[in-house]
Amino acid sequence: MAIERVIDTQIHADDREEELVERSLRPMTFDEYIGQDTLKKNLKLAIAAVKKRRGEKSEDGTVAPGTTLDHVLLYGPPGLGKTTMAGVIAQELGASLRVTSGPAIEHAGDLASILTNLSDGDVLFIDEIHRLRHAVAEILYSAMEDNVIDITIGKGPAARSVRLDLPHFTLIGATTRTGSLAGQLRDRFGIVHRLEYYKIPEIAQIISRTARILDTKINPEATDLLATRSRLTPRIANRLTKRVRDYADVNGDGIIDAKVAKEALDLLEVDELGLDAADRNMLKMILDNYGDRPVGVNTIAALTGDEAPTIEEYYEPYMMQLGLIIRTPRGRVVTEKAREHLRKVSK
Ligand SMILES: Nc1ncnc2c1ncn2[C@@H]1O[C@H](COP(=O)(O)OP(=O)(O)OP(=O)(O)O)[C@@H](O)[C@H]1O
Ligand SMILES: [Mg+2]
Repeated sequence: MAIERVIDTQIHADDREEELVERSLRPMTFDEYIGQDTLKKNLKLAIAAVKKRRGEKSEDGTVAPGTTLDHVLLYGPPGLGKTTMAGVIAQELGASLRVTSGPAIEHAGDLASILTNLSDGDVLFIDEIHRLRHAVAEILYSAMEDNVIDITIGKGPAARSVRLDLPHFTLIGATTRTGSLAGQLRDRFGIVHRLEYYKIPEIAQIISRTARILDTKINPEATDLLATRSRLTPRIANRLTKRVRDYADVNGDGIIDAKVAKEALDLLEVDELGLDAADRNMLKMILDNYGDRPVGVNTIAALTGDEAPTIEEYYEPYMMQLGLIIRTPRGRVVTEKAREHLRKVSK
């Protein structure tokens, strides 16, 4: 489906053009990073311990064995701040950050070269780590556990295996699907953490911060309205704030009040629960065709014309969070709450 959705958690083309704006909105430190309090508390402690050990082992805080942060795995729905947190961790450690992603590493040799080029104390971030090829992931096992890699030099009968020592590094992996992560890989992370959906007041704080950085005036009522429709997701909160700002600039005096915010969101067809036309269509299709019987994700995909993983990663998690859909062993079931919501918005 080629339609671009405003509540989509994926990164859009126009976001890429706005990369500079994006970067200015991205929190750099724990203090700027709103919400995810349990995760922050755990990481702050772990980082403080690393810094303390560094201080004890050497005068200048250099990185000795045992003084790097444990490898960190961050998982959870898109747009909740996994990539952002990787940057914050590196910043708080005073480390340099090297960024790559599962699909970008094609061969074991590519990963070997990334690893051997790191320096002591560096943080390596691998986004979409569930998409690493098997042969590439295997290199990572020994790298994570023993700080070594075995590479093969030469071909055929003359080929021989060489063991290389690696710098002391911290791996941060991010994934939206832990289910697809090999147990062997998952077990090698010392810190494994799920990012949770944000609370509405936290989203409101993020919207206020974003408006301040964008130099846009927004009143508290409008902030709250936007917060309830942002799917408890910072990426969507930022995107809606920008779209509503555009609307206020064109149709008003640039100040976002509740009236302007509501008009803009109605125009975008984002309803009170943060669902858009495509979400409502999905719910309606299931209800029309299956009523309250359970239905498999592949059938839902066929009904809406999406791919099954799109349904699982982008539509479903938020609707489940809200209790609009429940997952049963025999498939997904649309709840009474969803029926009620559809009745209400179609009035
Ligand atoms: N805790 C936060 N406080 C303020 N802004 C945040 C926070 N978390 C994320 N953001 C904003 O939301 C945007 C999306 O976050 P990020 O790219 O880190 O999500 P992600 O979990 O990596 O998503 P994906 O799974 O799609 O890679 C960022 O550009 C950032 O500006
Ligand atoms: Mg990311």
